[in-house]
Amino acid sequence: MGEHRLKRTGRWVADRAVAVAFFLALPILLAAPAALGGGAAADRLEVAIGRALFERAWVPAPSSTRANDGLGPLFNARACVACHGGLERHAVAAPEGEGRVAASALLRLSDAEGGPDPVYGRQLQTAAVPGFTPEGRLLLAEDGKTVIAADLAAGAFAAMTRSGLRVAPGLRGLGLLAAVPAEAIRAGADPGDADGDGVEGRVHELPDGSIGRFGWKASSATLADQIAIAFSLDLGMGTAERPAPAGDCTPAEPACIAGPHGGTAAEPEILPEIVTMLAQYLAAVPPAKPAGPAAGGGLFAETGCAACHRLTLAAADGRPVPAFTDLLLHDMGPGLDGGATEPGVAPTEWRTAPLWGLAGALAAGAGLLHDGRAADVAAAIGWHGGEATGSRDRFSALSPQDRVRLLDYVSGL
Ligand code: HEC
Ligand code: HEC
Repeated sequence: MGEHRLKRTGRWVADRAVAVAFFLALPILLAAPAALGGGAAADRLEVAIGRALFERAWVPAPSSTRANDGLGPLFNARACVACHGGLERHAVAAPEGEGRVAASALLRLSDAEGGPDPVYGRQLQTAAVPGFTPEGRLLLAEDGKTVIAADLAAGAFAAMTRSGLRVAPGLRGLGLLAAVPAEAIRAGADPGDADGDGVEGRVHELPDGSIGRFGWKASSATLADQIAIAFSLDLGMGTAERPAPAGDCTPAEPACIAGPHGGTAAEPEILPEIVTMLAQYLAAVPPAKPAGPAAGGGLFAETGCAACHRLTLAAADGRPVPAFTDLLLHDMGPGLDGGATEPGVAPTEWRTAPLWGLAGALAAGAGLLHDGRAADVAAAIGWHGGEATGSRDRFSALSPQDRVRLLDYVSGL
């Protein structure tokens, strides 16, 4: 990624978004260059600009000419940081209360094969630029857990459409996950359960031949991919990878398609350099340090947790990646049917969630699992079924003391 840098300076400075980001980044650069990781000055500059872009609130285009960013017309939040504040996971309930779901939790839509809703697309956009109507709102039912899609602008979802909540994961240590070679991930897969341990695990093969590793369903092969998805689905902006300037708007939403956009046919709203710098920023954020007791690792292995939550993988350069994941998809059983899915992944299949940084998520009051339904580690284990049934049952069979030791260990990662 470093090769991109500073090459297209002329176009860069001409681009207002990047120029603004550069000045936003200056105070960060001057204040804490070392905190952003090592590397050459140019790398640090890109990381600092990437951080400013992560924190930047994008704005709507004032007209159909290329004058500004082109947020929306429909979107979920104006900035990456609005959902990924502190790079941490957050509670599903909005901090302002009133039965609302936090902006960081998204409602994904799909049919059984992962195809979009014919009207609302792949995700319900809950915000809109002035003059446009959001697709709907997300509310919490009285139980404080069940999510209701309310005020749907074009009526009910199609009969085939399934919906499911996804919370924004913590974003630390992603550079290390990106550095694990594809062969190392493949080596852990056991799709036919050849070793008969009940745990399979399969690589998420993407149509372009790459393998997925980011997102709850390992649907993105690279950070850049995942960032392009965020611009498209969450912010309503086009990138080279996903050029549609109206993001997730469908032909059944003609006003959105015809709405104000910032890009041109030749130049997407978001230039490739912006995606690159965001990826470089995220890749430079180290993983969180474990906060809890180191004892309990033995129980973690004996109980079979480590069959999926592999203690470490190795990066291409040999660095250990102690993420507690195999980056594979596992069938977790009907209890974890997520409703909406993505092409090529069953609704019950999920990427083994990396457990590093769990202490931070718990301290932030965030729920665990893809939709935040589990209040703590014990509840998360309770939802494990499918390939994880044996491991869950071994956990239940532990003595009370051992159970506490294992829970303390995992809660402190
Ligand atoms: C409206 C809320 C929202 C916004 C805005 C948003 N994200 Fe996310 N982000 C999410 C959710 C939810 C997920 C999990 C999606 C999934 O896997 O289905 C996610 C996942 C990710 C991941 C994958 C992490 C992992 O562990 O695999 C990355 C990286 C990421 N976002 C970066 C960004 C960047 C960069 C931006 C800004 C360009 C951004 N996000 C904007 C909600 C948001
Ligand atoms: C068959 C593979 C497998 C086994 C075995 C397994 N897990 Fe998981 N684990 C997963 C997957 C996949 C997820 C993500 C599920 C989801 O989000 O719906 C997950 C999620 C979790 C989470 C929530 C993480 C988060 O970020 O929200 C915790 C905690 C967890 N597992 C702990 C354990 C413990 C402890 C054990 C052993 C008792 C265990 N797991 C055994 C695959 C497994």
